[in-house]
Amino acid sequence: MTGTAWDAFWSGLPTERGAALWDSSPHLTAARHLPLLREHADPALPLIDVGCGSGRQTRWLARHFPRVLGLDVAEAAVELAAALHPAPNVSYRRADLLDEDTARAVHAECGDANVYLRGVLHQLAPADRVRMLTSIRLLLGGTGVLFAQELTERTGWYVAQLLSDGEDLPKTAGLAAHFDFGARIAPAHEGRLRRLFEANGYDVVADGDIPLHTTERTSGGHPLELPTRYLVARASAPARRRPGTDRRDIRRDS
Ligand SMILES: C[S@@+](CC[C@H](N)C(=O)[O-])C[C@H]1O[C@@H](n2cnc3c(N)ncnc32)[C@H](O)[C@@H]1O
Repeated sequence: MTGTAWDAFWSGLPTERGAALWDSSPHLTAARHLPLLREHADPALPLIDVGCGSGRQTRWLARHFPRVLGLDVAEAAVELAAALHPAPNVSYRRADLLDEDTARAVHAECGDANVYLRGVLHQLAPADRVRMLTSIRLLLGGTGVLFAQELTERTGWYVAQLLSDGEDLPKTAGLAAHFDFGARIAPAHEGRLRRLFEANGYDVVADGDIPLHTTERTSGGHPLELPTRYLVARASAPARRRPGTDRRDIRRDS
């Protein structure tokens, strides 16, 4: 999805907390991710929430880091985040993380940072995923650590099955109709998410299955949870990377 499409999405959404399908309580979301990140990350570094959306997770995370920056390509998301989820050590700003120069400027300002990335990659075209991974590497520098939660092909199959079973899930169905949710969902199967990072200059230190809690309930009255993957990674040391010749680059398209 493009920045303009995301802007239209956020502008058209009701402004109350939790209006977006993925805008779940931080107690079910960031609070479960933090220990996975903290196991490997230096909590004295700032945290950058890339694609921060409404800022709901961003503000919760700000209790655990000295400074937090929420970046989003959609001006409407940044405005919503600033209105709904302000905090003294959080700032929100519009930034397109497909742009390497933007990432360089943020790194020049903040230094090495930890990065939180939830549900952003799967809507990008394959070449843009690689561009975003380049930008995130710049944000991490030599000492930052990334936590990512991402939808995979399995998420798409799961959603398609629920909808074809006739589940009454208006938010999920709305996203499916508007954004091809389920059909374009990637990066494909579980192992490929890890390989995408490994092929683009990351050392993955942990990964696994993790549910994505949504703000929608199934007909049985249970909160809808989607099967997704998480991953914790650092930027590979430059000396260990020889672009183009590294075996991990060769595996990129497998
Ligand atoms: C599915 S939402 C997830 C929001 C938030 N991470 C969360 O978990 O609540 C994806 C967000 O990524 C943002 N985004 C998409 N492409 C981006 C880009 N190139 N640079 C920065 N943000 C981007 C969108 O505007 C949107 O707010």
